[in-house]
Amino acid sequence: MRLAYWFFIVAILAGLAGMGLGIQMGIAHDFTLMPVHAHVNLLGWASLFLYGLYYRVEPSAEGTALAVIHFALAVSGLVLMTGGLTLMLQGNEALMPVTIAGALCAISAMAVFLIVVLRRGFAPRRAASIG
Ligand code: HEM
Repeated sequence: MRLAYWFFIVAILAGLAGMGLGIQMGIAHDFTLMPVHAHVNLLGWASLFLYGLYYRVEPSAEGTALAVIHFALAVSGLVLMTGGLTLMLQGNEALMPVTIAGALCAISAMAVFLIVVLRRGFAPRRAASIG
């Protein structure tokens, strides 16, 4: 399956989880996990879907090792940051390093994405269209 679709699928799963958590928070009137809800939706649903859209409009960027590293970092960032945050908010302060590792993965994913975009942007016109 193409990388763009991997981004889309993880984004949609995150959207379902984030919205589900939002509904659960509303029903329980317990907003302890609101930061988790916000980050699952924004790092997961919104960011991953936008990354996927880029690879759909620029398919020549998809088949590179850098694009796979981008995906791995973005998904690791989502899982580690929201997982760590969930456990921290439930009283497990010791898990702060996991949350920080997730945040570093997320920002590294964005930095790798910048390189992917710059490489496409500065590639010669013909090379950019055939990869
Ligand atoms: C079924 C869909 C959703 C439900 C039921 C839901 C529910 C909630 C609830 C109950 C809160 C807490 C509000 C408060 O305490 O004032 C909240 C906060 C938040 N939600 Fe959602 N949400 C949904 C979808 C989304 C989506 C798709 C995003 C982003 C793409 C999002 C981003 C946020 C953010 C950033 C906050 C924090 C707002 C603040 O700090 O004031 N939510 N949501």
